[in-house]
Amino acid sequence: MSSFIQRCIAPDCHAEYKIDERLYVCSRCAGLLDVVAEDAAVDTAALRELWRQRKSSLDVRDRSGVWRFREFLPFAEDAEVVSLGEGNTPLYEAPRSADYCRLSHLRLKHQGCNPTGSFKDCGMTVAVTQARKLGARSVACASTGNTAASLAAYAARADLPCTIIVPGGQVSHAKLAQALDYGAKVLEVEGNFDACMNVIRELSEDGSVYLVNSINPFRIEGQKTVAFELAEQLEWRVPDHLVLPGGNLGNSSAFGKGFRELLKSGLVDRMPKITVVQAVGAAPFARYYSDHGHDAFRNEEHPQTLASAIKIGAPVSWPKAWRAVQETGGSVITVTEQEIADAKAVIGRDGIGCEPASATSVAGIRKLVSDEMIKRDETVVAVLTGHLLKDTDYVMKYHSGSLIAPDGERLVSNFGNAPTRGY
Ligand code: F0G
Repeated sequence: MSSFIQRCIAPDCHAEYKIDERLYVCSRCAGLLDVVAEDAAVDTAALRELWRQRKSSLDVRDRSGVWRFREFLPFAEDAEVVSLGEGNTPLYEAPRSADYCRLSHLRLKHQGCNPTGSFKDCGMTVAVTQARKLGARSVACASTGNTAASLAAYAARADLPCTIIVPGGQVSHAKLAQALDYGAKVLEVEGNFDACMNVIRELSEDGSVYLVNSINPFRIEGQKTVAFELAEQLEWRVPDHLVLPGGNLGNSSAFGKGFRELLKSGLVDRMPKITVVQAVGAAPFARYYSDHGHDAFRNEEHPQTLASAIKIGAPVSWPKAWRAVQETGGSVITVTEQEIADAKAVIGRDGIGCEPASATSVAGIRKLVSDEMIKRDETVVAVLTGHLLKDTDYVMKYHSGSLIAPDGERLVSNFGNAPTRGY
């Protein structure tokens, strides 16, 4: 099908590189890189039918919710992929969450139902496949926990040594346990995620390790296919709003790219408004948005939130996420720790559940509805990025009324469900 290149996204640069050049950012201006395909006519009906038929195939690539859409991925048709059967995640109707947000309907795209329990797997299958194709001898990432768990699993499948750098004492036990069990070398750094990211970028400079954080454009390629899967689940009718959490901002970038490509190829007729939700104590992107992008992007030096997955002050992919928000007419908002905790419990009551960071999406939707930015009857999809079991410590504390916010305030368990002791 198409041939692919890597291109710098900076408007005054747009430097181009071969698809298999081992780069993370533009060597001319240090801008972020996009994977781009040459324009090719798409037979939309034939493609939709092909993707539908693949669902009943036993081919490893067809069983994957990422590789099933491989016409839009920068690999040869016969590429040997590193897959754990990622993607194919449910899109749930969530009536209690809808009521809570005062919407007539709300759908939750549960990316926590991936093999390692988070959305990262959809990107990791592609990044680790590329690592193997490039002949990388080892792979590495910085992580608040989920990227670590995901990379550790895919590296194990690819038989590649793997190093993970995490902020010491700030990663949930469940996520750390996954990385250890999958055999990764885990390095705990004193400092937050942003410090880990600096360390790993330095380490990867000499080419000895292949970096698979979402700055790596191949991660974004995998994650963009979630937009394809979602559009297919909605019979190719795009929702009015797509709302998701923002940390390092790779996922928002990926949804933007996915819907942009769907629109360009005629598979859908518009893009959803993409709204990114951050925790109020870790919200550099929301601050940039409320300045309308006039001032230079400023990092948050001391990000704070109990939603440890998105405790990030220097999001690497913000220019790509900004593009997604701008071109779709979306927004960037913040929610409080209390709003996150309550929304998370409500999602649980739908029989679905998620980890704290994921619940920013539903908390954000509630706020957007009350601010009349979303109308009651509009179609809305919230992305749940991680599984409930990723952070059970938080859950137990919420339900027993002992969850303390970073500012020292005890959160109110408005939907608490403490266990009853004895008879
Ligand atoms: N939700 C969860 C559960 C996450 O783990 C992350 C990021 C996000 C949301 C934010 O996504 O970074 O693409 O904006 N976790 C990364 C990690 C940073 O290391 O696992 P983003």
